[in-house]
Amino acid sequence: MTPALTNRDIAVAKLTEKQAKAELQALAKLVAEHDVAYHQDDAPTISDAEYDALVKRNAAIEKRFPDLVRADSPSKRVGAAAAGGFKKVPHAVPMLSLGNAFAEEDVTDFVDRIRRFLDLSEDEKVEMLVEPKIDGLSFSARYERGRLVVAATRGDGAVGEDITANIKTIKEIPDFIMGDVPKVIEIRGEVYMTKQDFAAMNERQAIAGGKIFANPRNAAAGSLRQLDPKITAQRPLRAFTYAWGAVEGLTWKTQWEFIQNLKAWGFPVNKRATVCNSVAAVLKEYEKLGSDRAGLPYDIDGIVYKVNRLDWQKRLGFVSRAPRWATAHKFSAEQAETQLENIEIQVGRTGALTPVAHLKPVNVGGVMVSRATLHNEDEIARKDIRVGDTVIIQRAGDVIPQVVEVKKHASGSKPFAFPRKCPVCGSLAVREDDQAVTRCTGGLVCPAQAVERLRHFVSREAFDIEGLGEKNIEAFFSDELVQSPADLFKLKKEKLVGREGWGDKSIDNLLAAIARRKTIGLERFIYALGIPQVGQATARLLAHHYGSLESWEQGMTAAKNEESDAFRELTSIEQIGPAVATDLIGFFAEKHNRDVLTALRKAGLTVEDFVRPDMSGSPIAGKTVVFTGTLEKMGRNEAKAQALALGAKVAGSVSKKTDLVIAGPGAGSKLKDAEALGVKVVTEEEYLKLIG
Ligand code: IVH
Repeated sequence: MTPALTNRDIAVAKLTEKQAKAELQALAKLVAEHDVAYHQDDAPTISDAEYDALVKRNAAIEKRFPDLVRADSPSKRVGAAAAGGFKKVPHAVPMLSLGNAFAEEDVTDFVDRIRRFLDLSEDEKVEMLVEPKIDGLSFSARYERGRLVVAATRGDGAVGEDITANIKTIKEIPDFIMGDVPKVIEIRGEVYMTKQDFAAMNERQAIAGGKIFANPRNAAAGSLRQLDPKITAQRPLRAFTYAWGAVEGLTWKTQWEFIQNLKAWGFPVNKRATVCNSVAAVLKEYEKLGSDRAGLPYDIDGIVYKVNRLDWQKRLGFVSRAPRWATAHKFSAEQAETQLENIEIQVGRTGALTPVAHLKPVNVGGVMVSRATLHNEDEIARKDIRVGDTVIIQRAGDVIPQVVEVKKHASGSKPFAFPRKCPVCGSLAVREDDQAVTRCTGGLVCPAQAVERLRHFVSREAFDIEGLGEKNIEAFFSDELVQSPADLFKLKKEKLVGREGWGDKSIDNLLAAIARRKTIGLERFIYALGIPQVGQATARLLAHHYGSLESWEQGMTAAKNEESDAFRELTSIEQIGPAVATDLIGFFAEKHNRDVLTALRKAGLTVEDFVRPDMSGSPIAGKTVVFTGTLEKMGRNEAKAQALALGAKVAGSVSKKTDLVIAGPGAGSKLKDAEALGVKVVTEEEYLKLIG
């Protein structure tokens, strides 16, 4: 992720107003990017501690310059806004976060504040419900007359994503609850995956060539936030419940009593929950849980303290986005000192060069660690990590350990020189201006990438060649039978006869499967090329927009010039941003990639034009439409999907090529552009009438 330009080396107290303004802007962007990586992509690129440091710095600058607080400041948000694709669910009662305590004094302060706020006498005890803080993904499930009606993720706290069908696949969460149940109640809790299930699932994913998750939390989040609940159903998800949102008919008087109700209604509750009535008792529980932590079957990242009495909770209320009556006491990450023996550069499918630290094995909180991630070139430079150094490493909730800092440089050591050549194939390795990753430009000629890309090329969503699993691809590659995609279509029976595990029949089947794919649709073909950031959805958009392989190729080649119409055309496609455009153009700029296309054609491959469904009855077929302003009858994504289904192209900006602009309330610059260019503008209502 882009480390946006900031003045982070300057102490907050020394920042000028101009510097502060620029840094707040940069921080807002950076934190938002990390929020998306964490909450929507389930693939964080920095540690929680680094993220916290950014948020803290932002808060410190805002405190010194209150007039500079931005509308999009991270201090005003909880997590990321709901992702496109899911229906949005506004929370009747917001889903808030918790304040943090790190040191013992923070806990004493927390209880003292409560005492002062409630004006309690010295001998009055403050009972606390104490329970583990589960490192998962929070959800809220609404029950009306005992029936589960809707379930949502937290989203930004105010609006979440509709995951009802997905939640229903989790056996531990009941569809119906009976007994003494409130008429309406939103049950809140955490979806998680056990450490064991996580490891087993990753293994299965690796064999099937699926996504590998960094830790149980990301695996749980990625599994729960699937548009297809059938996929969620196959994932080993579990849940703990611990709170409520909206409720009609609340009868319990304490948090503890509520937990007993949850249990009686059939919800999973954590059996370590207990009630303490002094700071000393609370801290003892913290120590106990901390030492049991490594042995628990699931990840926790702290312990939560909640005032037990509800009448007190009510009086205490909330400060900004967290309750005054609860806090999370975080565990410090487990750290250890060791020696960095080597820095290895690994090359992934998309050619990303990833530095990995090889360490003298060391025990960190019960786990032997010999490897740690170093993220990227900037990270190594920032921490000045050198081979031979004595380093501090840490293992947080996540399973991938990190190098926190250098304790001592090795004598005579030199700063690490990040390679400018791919260690696997020797091709140039480059960094784009605003990117942190260095990529090998070898593409399909780089063995590290070639096998992975071949595997992708034949995968189910791409060429879908049956009988060509990962092992076969690897064997064919190392025996030089298949080095690039075109070689698949040149495979001869003679070459395969006599190979171990290949009988006459299986060879015939494989060759027949390959022959069947000599003609392929444009959409699958684009996806199969494995261009970075071009997944199925993007491939479909491109196929839909350009129609034929020839016009797509021409468009991509011509788009090299950012002033060209071809570039404007590419970036005007809704959902294709500058980063994807750069990757597409970059792909075609490489001769060896163009050679792959030529070789495929020579090998007899036919790529069929994108067939638009019969749209003769659709009034917007072939038209380019732009949506702007607020839509009232349907969601933005729904409207786009519908327009695409009706054969229209959906663009993100207005140009001469636009046929129709659908403008809702609050439409701004796009509406002005349309008026200036004389493009037809209709209201949402008129549009709905038009499409019937
Ligand atoms: S109580 C109004 N209890 O931690 C407070 N939260 O950092 C509601 N979490 O958003 C939260 N375990 O996703 C509570 N035992 C627990 C929890 C817990 C995990 C999560 C939850 C919350 C986040 C706050």
